[in-house]
Amino acid sequence: MPSVKVSENIYWVGAVDWNARNFHGFTYSTHRGTTYNAYLIIDEKIALIDTVRSPFAQEMIERIKEIIDPSKIDYVVANHVEADHSGAIGQVLELAQKAKVIGTAKCEKELQKHYFGDWDFQVVKTGDKINLGVKTLEFIEAPMLHWPDSMFTYVESDSLLMPNDAFGQHLASSKRFDNEVDQNILMEEAAKYYANILWLFSPLVIRKIEEILKLGLEIKAIAPSHGVIWRGNPIKIVEAYLKWAKGEAGNRILVVYDTMWGSTEKMALSMIEGVRSEGVETMLFRLPISDRGDIIKELLNAKGILIGSSTINNGVLAPMAAFLEELQGLRPVNKVAAAFGSYGWGGGAVKTIEEKLQKANIKITAPAITVNWVPDKSELQKCFEFGREFAKKVVETT
Ligand code: FEO
Repeated sequence: MPSVKVSENIYWVGAVDWNARNFHGFTYSTHRGTTYNAYLIIDEKIALIDTVRSPFAQEMIERIKEIIDPSKIDYVVANHVEADHSGAIGQVLELAQKAKVIGTAKCEKELQKHYFGDWDFQVVKTGDKINLGVKTLEFIEAPMLHWPDSMFTYVESDSLLMPNDAFGQHLASSKRFDNEVDQNILMEEAAKYYANILWLFSPLVIRKIEEILKLGLEIKAIAPSHGVIWRGNPIKIVEAYLKWAKGEAGNRILVVYDTMWGSTEKMALSMIEGVRSEGVETMLFRLPISDRGDIIKELLNAKGILIGSSTINNGVLAPMAAFLEELQGLRPVNKVAAAFGSYGWGGGAVKTIEEKLQKANIKITAPAITVNWVPDKSELQKCFEFGREFAKKVVETT
């Protein structure tokens, strides 16, 4: 795949990782692969914005060579230190010996701690600009979107924002632009990315978008570091981010559970019937056969979640423990929940679930429902009612 023109004298020179199936260790499944986007700007001075994961360094360098001799690069902008974007910086700087590395103060420290390089580094902060000739790079610090070092780079002449991780998607494609790919797949991957990577930082997402609006920057295209470039309709992803960050979601309820001998599963199945009887959409996921990253994505567009587990060793089953840990870390905005589960001689699962929900800042709308051993007909009816009452509360929640 050759380099791709993004705008006048701006080229995508990144890499498509078709075979990526997980990210951040194994915490995030990337069923559709990913891309590591790097952008080359040709002007009197030449700038490379970000690099790629190290195994793709040579691929990126070959794409740069189609356009210029890499030794001519004057600036390597490191919007973000994480290895999927800085992994090839060492190889680039070996070729571009006169290049200055540009990044935030935190980026300088973190890059040093990753690669121990003796590089010429220029620290920039919000509002700082570097003139390349016709084009000017403007920098906007964006701490925690996705690491403390993160920043956005803006090219005024092209109304192009390069926000690194923000607005990205783990989506491998032979296409480079939003209007060339299936819109449902695109938004699904963008939502999964937001939920699994940025959800915890939602207040910062809102503030950063407001800050950019206040700066009055015209934005005709958003070129993130993963997935396709938003050029056909960049406002679509900005609006989606605002909606997700504010916790706006539909009347939808997820039922997420794990079960040892089937009793908690029977409870879950009765509950979804109760939810359905109120006309509320519901989705059922059993751990661990369901993908955790996919469940987190589905939760982004659901107001409520019912969480159930059998009791083991006075707590929850191990796959549920992992799910609750993830939920606590992400602290999803504006969700309501309730717990359920079966037990034998001693309970404990629902207590663990409720403790974790509180730590995740998720509002519990009803006391947990439990069943000793196997649920009988009347207990299953209670589970049905539990689901129905929960659905009513979700509909009332704004
Ligand atoms: Fe795509 Fe935070 O790295």
